[in-house]
Amino acid sequence: MLMNRRQFLSMSGATALVAVCSPQALTAHSLAYHTQPKAPAALKAMQDLARQRDKLLGYPINMTTLPEAFFDWRKELAHAGLNQFAFNNVGNSYGESHIPFNSHPFEQELIDRFGAVYGFPRENIWGFLSNSGTDSNMHGLYMGRTILKNRTGMMPKIYFTQEAHYSIQILRDLLHLDWVVVGTNLDGGMDVDDLERQLNANRDHPALVVATIGTTFKGSIDSIDGIQTKLKDRIAYLHLDAALFGGYLPHTSFAADLLHETLDPVSGKKRQRYDSIAVSCHKFFGFPSPAGLFITTRTNFESFVAQFSQIHDPEYIQQVPGTITCSRDAVKPAEFYFFSSESAFAQQAADAKAILDNTGYLLKEMASHYPHLQPARANDRSNIVYFRTPGEAVVNRYCLATMRLDTDGQRTPCAHVVMPHAKKVILDQFLSDLGKA
Ligand SMILES: Cc1ncc(COP(=O)(O)O)c(C=O)c1O
Repeated sequence: MLMNRRQFLSMSGATALVAVCSPQALTAHSLAYHTQPKAPAALKAMQDLARQRDKLLGYPINMTTLPEAFFDWRKELAHAGLNQFAFNNVGNSYGESHIPFNSHPFEQELIDRFGAVYGFPRENIWGFLSNSGTDSNMHGLYMGRTILKNRTGMMPKIYFTQEAHYSIQILRDLLHLDWVVVGTNLDGGMDVDDLERQLNANRDHPALVVATIGTTFKGSIDSIDGIQTKLKDRIAYLHLDAALFGGYLPHTSFAADLLHETLDPVSGKKRQRYDSIAVSCHKFFGFPSPAGLFITTRTNFESFVAQFSQIHDPEYIQQVPGTITCSRDAVKPAEFYFFSSESAFAQQAADAKAILDNTGYLLKEMASHYPHLQPARANDRSNIVYFRTPGEAVVNRYCLATMRLDTDGQRTPCAHVVMPHAKKVILDQFLSDLGKA
């Protein structure tokens, strides 16, 4: 018979050890293991859930099943040994690796291709495929902190708004950075005049600024150029959290929004608009496991690595990796490479158009049929419609995220629909269910 926790704790250490490790105890444990197999029920539940996946409207994970060509590409990779044994992308994907069992060539090429999409100059790109948007943000903030501290001898302060994703607050804590909270405009985007006031009040510290390109709940956008006008002549690093909109904006008429370089209208010279960018791969792209693009310039990477090499002793792997994590997944970069071809970009352009059209459609229909829900869209780039929380049945049926938003000095419960995979037929079902609620 298994003893309970109180009986176990009342034993002395040695007696307890014997009790747990005795053959009788082991038999009891293994019996308990064998009598409760969860996998069959979990598999069945998964199958049932899979049939309803297009009803997930409240979170930005794209649930579309990928085309056959993706699964063919997987097979080709498997044929070459990938995912059959332990490949590992430890190290710098752009460097010479002492451990050859990796997918660095795919990783490097896909970062070069996406770097070109975001307008990085071909000869000045560095990056890698991370585990998620959060992981990419972590690398951006760590890189920014390291570069700024090295340049000034001072820890930077970090600037972002209350609308930024909650993970930025976790990263701020992890990196021991003081948060300067920047106010927002009515549309939820960063108030750059407030940014200027805060920068002036914190002159003694360099500024690590996080601009969100598509805030999680409202879909607001922080203005890169507006922020840059306030950072002029200051020691600063600007990281873009484009986890949400960064995947599709380059394939729309708003592509210029995310371009890394622009021509300065006064000097006629090229000017960098930001230092690094993070984009989630499982959101817009619908990559079937969490992953993130992290892209910066080679110049930033080199000044980061100069400092990083003093923290990280390169002897063991014979290089300074430039990534925080040591072992890295080799499967994801090789698989995500599929999304970087010309035909994949053409498909992404079609998908981007569909989601923006669908967002407009949902907003229009909600505004005309359910004005009491006060539906809103922060801007014409956004794939989010947010509104007053409808009844619980609709919230649960469509897995809607809910939050209390400040409206007219009150905290109003709101929900939102995010559009990566929602087809018109599901939106119509949702609209009809709102009517029933
Ligand atoms: C704006 C923003 N940043 C970061 C994240 C975190 O991204 P991930 O889930 O890929 O870690 C999210 C997730 O929704 C987000 O909306």
